[in-house]
Amino acid sequence: MSDDQSTGNHDAIEAFASENRRFPPSDAFKVDALITGTELYDEAARDDEGFWARQASELIHWDTEWDTVLDWQLPYAKWFEGGMLNVAYNCLDRHVLAGRGDKIAIHWEGEPGDTRTITYQDLLDEVCRFSNVLKDLGVQKGDRINIYLPMIPEAVVAMLACARIGAVHSVVFGGFSSQSLSDRINDAEAKVLITADGGYRRGEVFPLKPAADEACETTPSIEHVVVVKRGGNDVMMVEARDHWYHELMEDVSPDCPAQPMEAEHLLFLLYTSGTTGRPKGIMHTTGGYLTHTTFTHKYVFDLQPDTDVYWCTADVGWITGHSYIVYGPLSNGCTQVMYEGVPNHPNNDRFWEIVEKYGVTIFYTAPTAIRTFMKWGAEEAAKHDLSSLRVLGTVGEPINPEAWMWYNEHIGGGQCPIVDTWWQTETGGIMISPIPGATTTKPGSATFPLPGVSAELIDDDAQPVPVGGGYLTLTRPWPGMLRGIWGDPDRFQETYWSRFPGRYFAGDGAKLDDDGYLWLLGRVDDVMNVSGHRISTTEVESALVSHPSVAEAAVVGANDATTGQAVFAYVILRGGAETDEAELRAHVTGEIGAIARPKRVFITPDLPKTRSGKIMRRLLRDVAEGRNIGDTTTLADASIVDELQAKASESNDG
Ligand code: WT7
Repeated sequence: MSDDQSTGNHDAIEAFASENRRFPPSDAFKVDALITGTELYDEAARDDEGFWARQASELIHWDTEWDTVLDWQLPYAKWFEGGMLNVAYNCLDRHVLAGRGDKIAIHWEGEPGDTRTITYQDLLDEVCRFSNVLKDLGVQKGDRINIYLPMIPEAVVAMLACARIGAVHSVVFGGFSSQSLSDRINDAEAKVLITADGGYRRGEVFPLKPAADEACETTPSIEHVVVVKRGGNDVMMVEARDHWYHELMEDVSPDCPAQPMEAEHLLFLLYTSGTTGRPKGIMHTTGGYLTHTTFTHKYVFDLQPDTDVYWCTADVGWITGHSYIVYGPLSNGCTQVMYEGVPNHPNNDRFWEIVEKYGVTIFYTAPTAIRTFMKWGAEEAAKHDLSSLRVLGTVGEPINPEAWMWYNEHIGGGQCPIVDTWWQTETGGIMISPIPGATTTKPGSATFPLPGVSAELIDDDAQPVPVGGGYLTLTRPWPGMLRGIWGDPDRFQETYWSRFPGRYFAGDGAKLDDDGYLWLLGRVDDVMNVSGHRISTTEVESALVSHPSVAEAAVVGANDATTGQAVFAYVILRGGAETDEAELRAHVTGEIGAIARPKRVFITPDLPKTRSGKIMRRLLRDVAEGRNIGDTTTLADASIVDELQAKASESNDG
């Protein structure tokens, strides 16, 4: 890998060099585990299409059997063509019809401590009603619906109601700004926006409706706005356009038979950052996606549907929430916990209080959260009985071995297998992960591709790397894969399939150790990973340059002990203009959302560039991480680096 690309996670690199600890599944865990041997791997290695077809027929209800398992015209895959199914039927009706209507689907807990217990029957009724509400608002199959909600059950209801009638949802994380919401609505040309007055966060109501109103000033496609009452904050309702959810739900019929959809019918769009300023609407379809998420949720977490209480702490606004709060878990008919708020309200032990209260058995969270818990101290977890836990998972970024060991000891009590799951918005579901009853884990390694997944590490010349570092690519289509970028087929081809012809390139670097274990090292492109969320450097740069005082901006992700990476910005002001760090940080929050707010903004007279004018991000990263920088002879003006370093160390002292 070239110099500028070896920016990955330093802990992971060190771990790769020195990590010798091994954690085989315990005999006690293996007794009831779904998979303890290599049978699934062997089956998939013999015939991956046959393997996925077996999963699709065993795990999913089809109204019409498919004709072909896979039609692969690189880079376009069609899975289970000719097959018809309804995702909401699979997530709800079939469980109720099998006599499990009284089973709890969701133990919901609001941040203030209010709770709702929702059975599969309750959820089905609510989804049917809301499907009829959408139909009454004129929504038809294929129409796009935007969802901008807090972590409340209505978010799940809204997604499943879309799926039931074949509408396409596009969920926008509630932390995104009105500008980000408006961009996403316009790109998808959504007809209806579903939002709330507000939700609870850190003990306060954060308003959503005002941001939705602001977005709607620039979104001509929106005909109706449905507003869930949650925060109780005052909101403005626009006559004819805006409707209260609870009022629409009052006199609507609970009867709404699920319509079978084509296997390749578009299920949802989810926007994610790439290397350019404009987010990409990742397209996921019906049959393959549901097969992939149902399969992985079952086997990666070793799901025992009658006894497990599963909790994924993600927000439904991200792919993790789509695949592992909504579709996978509900399709598997399991009982789960859904929590609205932050982990430190009212106290730092809120998560562990919830685990104890509901007897959570499977817990899935992000490394950044684990590092935060480490900072808060093991005594927070020790206040609670966590003995119900039996499987732990992580997702979103590489987990450093120290955090892995802490998670194992202080949350898992040394008894729970840890599944470090690598995947992406684009892959739809988990791709690389241990299987808890079968895989011997090493702290910090995501271990091996799952059965049916073909990953290969290659070098710059696309030659396979048997041991050592390389680029992570996928060589065979998989059922949950993205089917395209909404409205931009060229970008789909260019972004994922052009760097290494014939392969999907994920954008991640990785290493293979002597035992064939994969160690993910982070992105090799200009994408940052802050608390497990993808943010493009270009997107933040565009936001900064949109400020009237800013002439030029360069943004890099620098290693951060808690968030994985943190956003560092360097800006050049326009002649005579004045602004300051606080104002520019707030400006980015307004443009994109708080997740993209730079940790530091340095105002500088110049930026280090190559003679051809390319900003040298590697140097800026070195400065941000406080490293001494070596050779600057290719710089147009080497003195600028000294100046930047002086600024950075000044601020570190202060
Ligand atoms: C990027 C995808 C998948 C849901 C959350 C993020 C990084 C994800 C891991 C992991 C190392 C990981 C990669 C990937 N990533 N999981 N277990 N180990 N890195 O979804 O926003 O689409 O981001 O997150 O860099 O490319 P996303």
